[in-house]
Amino acid sequence: MSRTEVFGILSSLLLVVAAALVLSGCSTPEGNAAEGKRWYRMHNCHACHGEQGYDGGGPDIANIDMRYRSFVHRLRNAETAVMPEFSEEKISNEDAADILAYLQSIER
Ligand code: HEC
Repeated sequence: MSRTEVFGILSSLLLVVAAALVLSGCSTPEGNAAEGKRWYRMHNCHACHGEQGYDGGGPDIANIDMRYRSFVHRLRNAETAVMPEFSEEKISNEDAADILAYLQSIER
């Protein structure tokens, strides 16, 4: 095998590894609805959005049709003075995925 061939193989290997790293870093964490229900109560979401997500004074967020990224963005950035901001220290990305899974699992 020539030097160029070896180099070619090595660099394609590197590309594969780099792609895998990027993909794993950006992928949506798998949400756990049962855990999410706990976080939802723990962070007092129910105080505004209701026990079931649709039975509170705040907007109906049960079965919310929101992608994980927008959901997390929404949690981290207040749009109004009413809905508090939840930083990553308060609600980790994993916990946010759990909460979203919970909201999307609500039956009515
Ligand atoms: C103090 C009341 C309050 C609390 C606590 C609260 N929210 Fe909200 N939430 C609101 C209000 C009011 C809005 C709509 C206005 C706005 O977006 O700020 C909202 C909007 C949202 C939206 C966007 C809904 C849409 O259709 O765009 C999501 C998602 C959401 N809340 C999730 C949560 C989660 C998850 C928690 C707990 C971690 C939580 N909220 C805690 C009051 C609250």
